[in-house]
Order: sequence, then structure tokens, then C-alpha cells
Amino acid sequence: MDHFEYRGGVLHAEDVPLPLIAAEVGTPVYVYSRATLTRHARVFRDALKVLPRVHLAFAVKSNPNLAVLKVLAAEGYGADVVSAGEMDRALAAGIPAADVVFSGVGKTAAEMRRALAAGCGQFNLESEEEGAELAEIAGGMGLVATATLRINPDVDAGTHAKISTGKAENKFGVPYDRAAGIYARLSGLPGLNLRGLALHIGSQLAKLDPLEAAFTKAGALMHAIRADGFAVTHMDLGGGVGVPYRAGEVFPQPAEYAAMLARVTQGWDATLMFEPGRVITGNTGVLLTEVVRVKQGALHPWVVVDAAMNDLARPAMYDAWHDFSAVTPRGTMMTANIVGPICESSDTFAMAREIDTVARGDLAVFRTAGAYGATMANTYNSRPMVPEVMVDGAKWAVVADRIEPSTILSAERVPAWLA
Ligand code: LLP
Repeated sequence: MDHFEYRGGVLHAEDVPLPLIAAEVGTPVYVYSRATLTRHARVFRDALKVLPRVHLAFAVKSNPNLAVLKVLAAEGYGADVVSAGEMDRALAAGIPAADVVFSGVGKTAAEMRRALAAGCGQFNLESEEEGAELAEIAGGMGLVATATLRINPDVDAGTHAKISTGKAENKFGVPYDRAAGIYARLSGLPGLNLRGLALHIGSQLAKLDPLEAAFTKAGALMHAIRADGFAVTHMDLGGGVGVPYRAGEVFPQPAEYAAMLARVTQGWDATLMFEPGRVITGNTGVLLTEVVRVKQGALHPWVVVDAAMNDLARPAMYDAWHDFSAVTPRGTMMTANIVGPICESSDTFAMAREIDTVARGDLAVFRTAGAYGATMANTYNSRPMVPEVMVDGAKWAVVADRIEPSTILSAERVPAWLA
């Protein structure tokens, strides 16, 4: 459910007509609905109330915008970060360092030092080597790093190969069979307080079964590690719950996820930690774009929009589907290909898609663009960095400026020996 609705034939974000934002900010632009964000944050949090002890760490990578993080901080979310940059954003939004979980397969020594100095609540270790390094760095600072060990449960998440993370051939975590031994060795290191296991098998999961299989394996390992005499007080179960991108798709509801969790984790006696991203932010945003022109094609017309793969990379990277709707529909439909202006064929949003009839100058949106949208944007083809707007009822504000190519150009230098 979201707050992007037609009123009087014009698509609004809450109480704000999208043409107003286009006129004042220009296109392309991401538009977020605060009410939608708050609603998703609450539905997820409330669903998990059936579990005894829960820690929620929003996956910052899905939407790191400062205003978005502010809203989630106010809803009591911690943060799951994968770089010092993401950590700085979480802290800037007022998320306590103690509620920050530092994930990622390639944390540098410098990042570990900064996170330790900031008081980061937990490091999710991806390897024995990383654990040894963190213990040494923390010890040298006179600190003890709180950590979990990420396991690779070798479970197929059943999602796109490029966003699967829990198969043995993926780079993430330590092999399931070796995890107990690694846990025992790392537990002996001064400088490290190893308190649990972590896992995350992939993103945009359409079914709960792979999660259930992975959690069941993690639970068995937890019991085995405890039987070896080591403490396991925290189990970080990652993120991954998918959202519908196409009208009519059915996805697991937070309540079903919670019911599965309650069943699988019964008797675990551990704090359950979560790192939801897309399920919180996916529906909270649209990418607002203008039709540059409609070009005749061999089979179907090409609708060339002013948004491109640099603004929304998901279709090009994962063949992802984003619903496309006219802001002021004419009531008729056309079959068309939707593409951006970038000079490669992967800059394609949809082929042979049945869409609202659009013409040059019309506004349209790509829906469900709140997660992994602006955060993955770049400036390929020397295009501007796409701006972001947040709407709250009848109020709205630019929450990230458009960064012009001239600003980026001004950071480049021609060395004297080329001049
Ligand atoms: N925790 C960890 C350790 C992760 O790697 C991720 C996502 C999450 C949590 C959040 O997952 P979510 O709840 O959002 O599914 N760019 C891709 C998605 C990449 C996800 C990477 N990791 C896309 O646009 O579909």
C-alpha cells in the first residue's frame, strides 16, 4: 500500500500533485512519500512484536537519503551499514552508534578503526581473517569489538543470481561446515566479544521457504555452538523479504514472515536481529520522468524518457520490472518500448509493454523505486546526479539536490604535463 494516488486524473504523492514537483525541480527526480515510509516501517516493526527480543537495523544501502534515515530513526530503527560512508549517514540521522550493525565482506582496517571509535554496536564478520584483524585493531585501541559471525548456509534464495548471497559459491560468510570451528577460535581472542551468528541469503525473496530453510540451519548451528560451551545471545537474520513490482503479484506479508519466524525460532532464547531494506523503502518512492519524444520503431514505438539507467539501474542490471504510469493518463493504452537517452541498449526500462498512451512532454513515473533507486544512481554519459524530493502531506522539500555535470567537472584536473 502506498500514498501515490490519482486525484482528479492527476497522480499525487500524498497531497502534492506530481506536475508541481516536476515544474519546480525538473525531471528526472525521485519522489518519496513520508506517510508510506512510516507506514511500512510500522507494519514491519509491529508484525515482529510476536517475537520476544528484536533489534531492527534498516539496511541503509536500500535508501541512504538523510531525510529517509531521519524518519526511520524516529521510528526506532537502527542501521545496517556496509561502509564508513553509510555509518556516517546513520549517525548524522541520529541513529545511536550502539544500534549500528557493520556488515560487508571487505571492511578495511581504517573503517574498523572508525567504527570502533564511534562505538558501533556490532560487526558482522564475514571471515576468520576479518575476525582476527578486528580483534587486533580493537585490542590496540583498548576496546572490545562486539561481533557476530556470518555464515553461508548454502541455501538457494530463489531470486535473481546477481542478488543471491547464501549459496556456497557466493562470496559471503563462512562455509556452514566450518563455522563452529571458526566460532570457537574467534571466541578465544581478546579484543573480540563474539556473541552470535548472522546470515543473509539474498534480496527480493518471493517466498519464505528459503528463509525458513536457512534459519533452521542457523538454529541447529547455534545449538551446536552452545553445546561446545560458547555463548550465542544474538542471531542476525538479515533482510531479503521481497515486494511486488507488478500489479497483481503476491508476496509474503510481514505478518506471515513473523509467524514463520515465531515457529522456527521458538526456544532459541536469543535476541533476533533484522536488516530489512526493500520491504521498508521499496514502495515509498517513484521516479518521476518526462517523455522526451516518441520515436517510431520497427515493431513498437520507442518512448524515450529523460530518466535513464544511470538514474534507475535495476532494469539494466537485473532485468527488473518497474510499473510505468502516466501522471495524467488519457484513458487509452499503447504498446511500446520504454528507453532512456543513454548510448547503450541496456538503457531499456521495458520492451513491448502495454502502457498508458504518452506523448512528448508528458510526465510519467516508474513505481516502486524507493529501494535501490537513487542509491545506485551515477552520472554515466555525464548526466546530472538525480535529485530526491520528500512529500509529507501537503508539504514537500528537495532532500537531495541535483548535482550538475559542471560541479562534477569542476572536481577534475588536467595535470600540468598535459596542459
Ligand atoms: N543485509 C545484508 C547483509 C544485505 O547484503 C542486504 C542487501 C540487506 C540486508 C537488505 O536486503 P533487502 O531487505 O533490501 O532485500 N541492488 C539490488 C539489491 C541488492 C541487495 C544487497 N544486499 C536490487 O536492486 O535489487
